[in-house]
Amino acid sequence: MTSSDNKKIGVLMGGFSAEREVSLKSGAAVLKALVGLGYNAVGIDVDRNVATKIVAEGINAAFIALHGRYGEDGAIQGLLELMAIPYTGSGVLASALAMNKIFAKQAFQAAGLTVAPYRVVCRGEVFDAKTFTFPFPVVVKPSQEGSSVGVSIVRQESELEAAMQDAFKYDREILIEQFIKGAEVQVGILEDKALGAIEIVPKKEFYDFEAKYSPGMAEHILPARLPADLYEKVLRAGEEGHRALGCSGYSRVDFLVTTEGLCYILEVNTLPGMTDLSLLPEIARGSGIEFGELVERLISAATLKIAQ
Ligand SMILES: Nc1ncnc2c1ncn2[C@@H]1O[C@H](COP(=O)(O)OP(=O)(O)O)[C@@H](O)[C@H]1O
Ligand SMILES: [Mg+2]
Repeated sequence: MTSSDNKKIGVLMGGFSAEREVSLKSGAAVLKALVGLGYNAVGIDVDRNVATKIVAEGINAAFIALHGRYGEDGAIQGLLELMAIPYTGSGVLASALAMNKIFAKQAFQAAGLTVAPYRVVCRGEVFDAKTFTFPFPVVVKPSQEGSSVGVSIVRQESELEAAMQDAFKYDREILIEQFIKGAEVQVGILEDKALGAIEIVPKKEFYDFEAKYSPGMAEHILPARLPADLYEKVLRAGEEGHRALGCSGYSRVDFLVTTEGLCYILEVNTLPGMTDLSLLPEIARGSGIEFGELVERLISAATLKIAQ
């Protein structure tokens, strides 16, 4: 698709996940870029009537600028498949897998990637902290959330229950993971290849919601300060993580990289933030791809993924 073939693009944004506000910002940046490039593009705020809105707008392709539940988990991708509207990014299965940290970890392990030791706890399960096989500190997180919502670092057993209750607010399945002390490194993937790796140095204890979205709360270092061989290793691990889940096109893969040179994969974000201050656009810019070009390359790769 090009700006001259007069197809109409819907930028799907907003939605009703915990990351609605972030998505509205991603959507606004993408829409501005597309219009600036001469595309016929409209913003569509996603709610339960999204199918009706898509029909009313008569769009020919969708740029998905949603994050979190219903947008990043395969739900909207399934709707677009049914409606035969090509869309950006990963398909139904990869999106659903990436959104579920438990299934994603199993796929990463099967692909030989390094993951933090973990244990799954389901809501209502009788849980005995004495049965732990790894020591404190640990990280407690909901299986299906993003933006560090519901994530906490627990230093001692007495704090565990409160952290678990908090994570259970967001999901009925949670993970308790070994705390990994390492550099926070994220790999940007475009057209299924690693573009570069950025290092994040949060001003707080970890890369929590505030550190992610408040200016000045996290330092970004591009390229990540890693020895050349380790930098190369994390790029390859990023591509493997992307492939292990069957992702299409682009993603941002989060790692913790230790001083021993281990690259612990945390997750693959199939719809990473797309404001012009977000990490994937920053990584892209570092390899000479400006925001407008990034958006254009993503929309020109929009396809259906089922039964191709
Ligand atoms: N096992 C871990 N050890 C240390 N820090 C972690 C661990 N898991 C998560 N974190 C911290 O929490 C942040 C969010 O975790 P992540 O698994 O990426 O979930 P989210 O989908 O919310 O981004 C990470 O960027 C990191 O700062
Ligand atoms: Mg993350």
